[in-house]
Amino acid sequence: MQSLHNFLFEHNKKKNNLPANLQRVIVEIMRASKYAEHAIRTEETGKSGETNIQGEEQLALDIKCDQIFCNILSDSELIAKFASEEQEHAVSINGEAGLYSVAFDPLDGSSLLDTNGCVGTIFGIWEGNGFIGKSGNDLVAAGYIQYGPRTTAILSFAGNTHEFTLSEIGEYHLSKENISVHENATIFAMGNLRASTERPEYKAVLDYFLEKKKTLRYAGGMVPDINSILCKHSGIFTYPSHSAYPKGKLRLLYECAPMAYIMNNANASAVDEFGNNISDIKITELHQRTSIVLGSTNSVEKVIEILNKK
Ligand code: AHG
Ligand code: MN
Ligand code: MN
Repeated sequence: MQSLHNFLFEHNKKKNNLPANLQRVIVEIMRASKYAEHAIRTEETGKSGETNIQGEEQLALDIKCDQIFCNILSDSELIAKFASEEQEHAVSINGEAGLYSVAFDPLDGSSLLDTNGCVGTIFGIWEGNGFIGKSGNDLVAAGYIQYGPRTTAILSFAGNTHEFTLSEIGEYHLSKENISVHENATIFAMGNLRASTERPEYKAVLDYFLEKKKTLRYAGGMVPDINSILCKHSGIFTYPSHSAYPKGKLRLLYECAPMAYIMNNANASAVDEFGNNISDIKITELHQRTSIVLGSTNSVEKVIEILNKK
């Protein structure tokens, strides 16, 4: 079993496109994920009594996971800025002296905690100081950790997407290399299905997948829903806008842009409901939202065609 450290080192020895400092940031994030994993498996799943900038009730573990990633990365002289779903503003760590800025959804799918569902952490790594004016195209690495029966991590950099699994001795090792997603979806995960009551075109998407007898796989967490697509090498995930979320619910900086980067490096697509590449969308504010249709390229194109039929 090849360890994460060895994989990163060997990758750069062969391709010389993964700088040692970027390797160090990735390793620090993965080290922090072990503390988050422990907290998720052992601490209370209850509410904190606080709300975040999104006006969403924060669970104690939302805050705890945010603190874990923020504290560990604040110790690194490599980090310029740290941004998170759980903090209104980006935290300036080393400013211009830092090489990378990192954005986190420290605990994705926290509403699934009390049901013992799969939750995750999503992150994106940009070069330089800050995020505003950049886009997903400027990411140099991205990934997520899924805290499930096993703890696995998807890491994407230098044009490829790989899976690593956390072993009993607390070491991440390579479990899937160069993941690729087939162009036609076999499974579908339609988020925000309530929108179909206002948007007949979204109901038409559901009818399409039912007519094609596709298999519904919907966990209600972005990480497990997208992880199914990568592990099954096929599938589609949608979360369109509707009256409650006129721009969509999911956040560009720390959910959609990292997931789009991961998918694009696995031969899959990620667009908004109008068909614009998520990776092209400029970051204008930390918590801006977008709709998203992501996964098998042909199926993404078909969904956009149905959603935008005149
Ligand atoms: P978070 O827990 O970080 O706020 O993210 C929840 C997101 C995402 O994980 C999931 O795809 C989506 O919310 C589900 O939204 P609904 O609960 O509206 O279905
Ligand atoms: Mn989330
Ligand atoms: Mn979250």
